[in-house]
Amino acid sequence: MEIPPNIESYDRDNVPDPALAWQMAEFFAANYPDMHDPLERAQDLEKHGSVDAILERLREEYFILIQRGFQGRIAGLLEWKPIRVEGIIYAELTWLMTDSALREQGVGRSLHDVFVEQATQIKQGVTEPVALRLSVHKNNTARTFLRKIGYTQWSQSPTNRKKIFMGREL
Ligand SMILES: CC(C)(COP(=O)(O)OP(=O)(O)OC[C@H]1O[C@@H](n2cnc3c(N)ncnc32)[C@H](O)[C@@H]1OP(=O)(O)O)[C@@H](O)C(=O)NCCC(=O)NCCS
Repeated sequence: MEIPPNIESYDRDNVPDPALAWQMAEFFAANYPDMHDPLERAQDLEKHGSVDAILERLREEYFILIQRGFQGRIAGLLEWKPIRVEGIIYAELTWLMTDSALREQGVGRSLHDVFVEQATQIKQGVTEPVALRLSVHKNNTARTFLRKIGYTQWSQSPTNRKKIFMGREL
């Protein structure tokens, strides 16, 4: 699958210029999920709330995808990273956000399709099983969206009692 022309993928070898990194930081703060508490918000914004923070995420081997919308503005953002846990490689979806004014119009699904494509490429050249995984707040309505795109509930998060792991085979 070719990446659609309105979706861009960034990583440690292909970083956004500072102006775009700042747009990503602003987008992250503006579309951060409502149900997270102030401490979580502060901790997550520390990791995404500035140009340096975005560039640091990419240095830490996260991938960041953005979808452009009207006048090139960011319509959606997805962040993920491959991690190895007990003999399994997880393509861990750490963030997916659509502009709050553009929800339920297919942005989340189209970004996720590109993520699946990138995660599938990991399978080449590894013997371990590869799966998609994420953690989500138990009361986040995004769980309905996630079920629609093929995720099922896997387990309680061991580090946060408010969150569950959801996953999907590749
Ligand atoms: C979750 C989120 C990314 C979904 O993005 P989106 O662009 O609105 O999703 P899409 O338009 O691609 O939706 C795909 C399908 O899920 C459905 N859907 C999306 N959000 C939904 C919701 N909150 N409740 C019920 N269904 C929903 C859509 O109607 C669509 O259904 P269809 O295939 O039958 O037409 C978006 O609501 C968001 O940014 N939430 C805040 C951030 C957040 O909580 N992220 C955590 C997710 S891991």
